[in-house]
Amino acid sequence: MNVVKALRTARAPSHFMRGRIVLPLASSSAQSTRPRLFASSSVSRSEREPQSVSRLAPIGVEAALQTTKDSSDNSTPRKIFSEFALPDRVGIVSGGGRGLGLEMAMALCEAGARAIYCLDIHDKPTEEWQAVRDYVGRLKPLEQDTPSQNPASRLEYVKVNVTDQNAVWKAVNEIGDREGRMDVCIAAAGVLKPEKDVLEYPAEEFKEVMSINVNGVLYTAQAAGQQMRRFGNKGSIILIASMSGSITNHGHAWIAYNTSKSAVLQMTRSMACELGGEGIRVNSLSPGHIYTKMTAQYLDSQPHLFSKWSSLNPLGRLGRADEMRGVVVWLASDASTYCTGSDILVSGGHHAW
Ligand SMILES: NC(=O)c1ccc[n+]([C@@H]2O[C@H](COP(=O)([O-])OP(=O)(O)OC[C@H]3O[C@@H](n4cnc5c(N)ncnc54)[C@H](O)[C@@H]3O)[C@@H](O)[C@H]2O)c1
Repeated sequence: MNVVKALRTARAPSHFMRGRIVLPLASSSAQSTRPRLFASSSVSRSEREPQSVSRLAPIGVEAALQTTKDSSDNSTPRKIFSEFALPDRVGIVSGGGRGLGLEMAMALCEAGARAIYCLDIHDKPTEEWQAVRDYVGRLKPLEQDTPSQNPASRLEYVKVNVTDQNAVWKAVNEIGDREGRMDVCIAAAGVLKPEKDVLEYPAEEFKEVMSINVNGVLYTAQAAGQQMRRFGNKGSIILIASMSGSITNHGHAWIAYNTSKSAVLQMTRSMACELGGEGIRVNSLSPGHIYTKMTAQYLDSQPHLFSKWSSLNPLGRLGRADEMRGVVVWLASDASTYCTGSDILVSGGHHAW
C-alpha cells in the first residue's frame, strides 16, 4: 500500500462518522474526537478545531453551517470586507508626515480607525499632510456590522525624533492616556543616504542610518507594544523594512541602508516570538521601488534610473505609494489574525528573479 492510500484508509472513519463530515486531525485517533454539531445541518466538526478569534465570528464556512436554511434569504451579510475594517482602532505611524507613512496612515483611517497619530521629526506637518487630515475628517462613517462609538476618523500629528527612546515612549504613552487603547503600529520612519563606497563608508553616517532605520523602528514598536500590553487589547505591529533587506539593489552602494533593513527583518521575527503570547502580532512589510521623496533624490537627478529600476521587476514599472494600502490594512486588521513573524514583500516581483 502506498503512503497516500494508507493515509486515506486510516482517516476514513474520522471523515465519515455516520454520514457526517468530521474534519480530520493530523495527530490523534478518530475515537478521541467528539464531533461538534451545527443545529441547522447534519454537518459536524471536531471540538478540537480552534475557536474563531474573529470579532465577526462565525465567519466563512462556519457561518454558512450555522445559518438555518429558513433564514437563507438574500440578507445574508457579506463579512469579508468587514474583516478588513478597523472600527474604533487607534494607531501610530512613524514617518507619517509624508510618503509611504502618510499613505498608510490615511489607509488605516479609511478602514475606519478612530485615530491615527503620525509621528515625524518636523516641527509642523506639511500642507500635504494637512490636506490628508482634512480629507480624513470628511470621510463618511464606516458601513459595517458593528458600528463604532466614534464613527469619525482623526489624523493627528506629533513631532518626535524616533532616535530618542524616551521621547517616543513618552509621546505614545500620552496617546494611550488620551485614547485608552492602542491597536496598530507602523514603523515607517527611515532614511536612505547618498551612495558611498563600502570600503570608505564613514562610521558616523553608518551610525546615523542605523539609529533611525533600526533603533528608531525598535523604539517605535516598543512604545506601541507597551500600550498594547497596558490595555490588553492585543494589536498589530508592522515594521517597514524593504526588499533591500533581502536582496542587494543592483549597481547601488547602499551598505548602511541594506544592512539596516536586514536588521528590521530579524527584529520582526524576534519581536513576534516574544509577543505572540500576548496576542500582539509583529510583521514586516518590504516594499520594492516606490516613487517618494526618498527615491526622488535619485530618480529626479538621474532620470535613466526610471527605466533601469522599472526593468528590474516583472511588472516593468515603479510602484506607487497607494499600492501599499491594501496590504497594510490587511496586516493591521482582523483579516490577518494568523499572520505574525512574516515579511510581506510588495516589490512588483523584483525579488523573484
Ligand atoms: N520609497 C521606496 O521605494 C521604499 C522602498 C522600500 C522601503 N521603503 C521604506 O519605507 C519607509 C518610508 O519611506 P518613504 O519612501 O516614504 O520615505 P520619505 O523620505 O518620503 O519618508 C520618510 C519619513 O520619515 C521621517 N523621518 C526620518 N527620520 C526621522 C526621525 N529621526 N524621526 C522621525 N521621523 C523621521 C521623514 O521626516 C519622512 O517624513 C522607509 O523606512 C523606507 O526605508 C521605501
